[in-house]
Order: sequence, then C-alpha cells, then structure tokens
Amino acid sequence: MIPEIKIAPSILSADFARLGEQVHMVEAAGAQLLHVDVMDGHYVPNITIGPLVVEALRRVTEMPLDTHLMISEADRYIDAFARAGSTSISVHVEAVPHLHRTLEAIRKLGAQPGIAINPGTSLALLDEVLPYADFILIMTVNPGFGGQKFIPTSLQKIARLRQMITERNLNVRIEVDGGIGPNNVRSLVEHGAEWIVAGSAIFGAPDIGAAVQAMQAAAEGLATANIS
Ligand code: DX5
Ligand code: ZN
Repeated sequence: MIPEIKIAPSILSADFARLGEQVHMVEAAGAQLLHVDVMDGHYVPNITIGPLVVEALRRVTEMPLDTHLMISEADRYIDAFARAGSTSISVHVEAVPHLHRTLEAIRKLGAQPGIAINPGTSLALLDEVLPYADFILIMTVNPGFGGQKFIPTSLQKIARLRQMITERNLNVRIEVDGGIGPNNVRSLVEHGAEWIVAGSAIFGAPDIGAAVQAMQAAAEGLATANIS
C-alpha cells in the first residue's frame, strides 16, 4: 500500500480567540486532518481543552477531528469525545489499564482508535495490540507543550514501527507529532510517517495557509521555495 501523506495542523498553537477563522484557513489551504490536543494537567503538566471545543469545531469544519488524549483515565472520557464529533481518538498506553478494551470501545463509538507512544516508551508495548489500532501516534517530543525540539532518535523508531506493520501485513497508519516543520518533515515521511502533525510550524507562521501548503510540498519532496 502506498502511504497517503496527510498534514494535520494542531490547534494547540492557534489563536483561540480566532479559532474558527484559523481552522477555516488551514482547511482552505488543503489540510486533511485537524489535530486536537487534550491535556488534563495530570498525565501531562499542561491543561487545554475538552469535548465542548471538539463539539464547536465539529460545527465549523468538514475536516476529520483527530483527538489526541493526553489524559489519565482516558476511558472515562472517550464517550464524550466521540459524541462531540471526534473522528479518531488516540490514547497513551500508560493512561489506560486495558488497552485492547479501550481500542475496541473507541471503535464501537464510531471513531478510529489510535495508540500514542511517548519518546521514552518502547514499541514492544504495541506487540499484542497493533492489529486493533487504526493508527499509531509516535510522539517525537515529550507530550505537554507545543514548540518543542524534535527528538532525532524518533526517526529510527518510526522506521522500526513501519517494519513491524509491513512484516505483519497490517493496515495501520503512522502519525508523528512534535517539533515537525518543513525542514524535517521529508525525512519523517521517508522513515514511514503518513499523518504529520504540526502546531507552531503552521499556526506560528505569518501566513497560515502558505505554511500548510509548504508542509505538504516538503512532505512530498516537492519544491519548498515559499517556506517562510
Ligand atoms: C504536544 C502535542 C502536539 C503539539 C505539537 O504535546 O501533542 O500536538 O501541538 O506542537 P509543535 O508542532 O509546535 O511541536
Ligand atoms: Zn498532539
């Protein structure tokens, strides 16, 4: 299967006072996923948003809403996020006691289940559950904040995961998240990444729409002349 690259702007770095407007900008520029970072001040040090915001986003965009739960006891909230309109929901392996059960529950609620893996977490934890996930989110920074520096050893980890998926002939997407911009996105794709999350590289750019297009072009290995 030929991997399909999708750019997923993360609203964490958006201007929340102008959220609808900025979401329209990335959508008009061709972004195919909207990444929504949910943080509880417990699993990660930061606090962000809840199902209310997902519900509001659902009303203003056609883009799939990719909900990244960086919260403890994630099982308690998947129902609310699915009902709010999340298209895909990822949970961190450390945040649920029975991962297989959680993935099945997300699927039953009509969303695509994903597993998020921290930089310090081994791919070995995926061994038994890989066939039950629609996607694996490889964190390329430690979760909690936007604008952090990409951890370079992530590249080999992505390649090893790609190999695991290929060897087992599974239909599982690889998503990458953290410290990604036009300068490193191509190497991530070359190592096997398909869904590319970018917060500060997109919403921190002077022209948000141009930043989406520059990311897409860079990811596909095309000219990157208009990168700001
Ligand atoms: C970090 C979040 C990311 C964040 C990425 O914990 O999961 O989605 O928004 O931000 P950048 O692209 O700025 O590293
Ligand atoms: Zn994220």
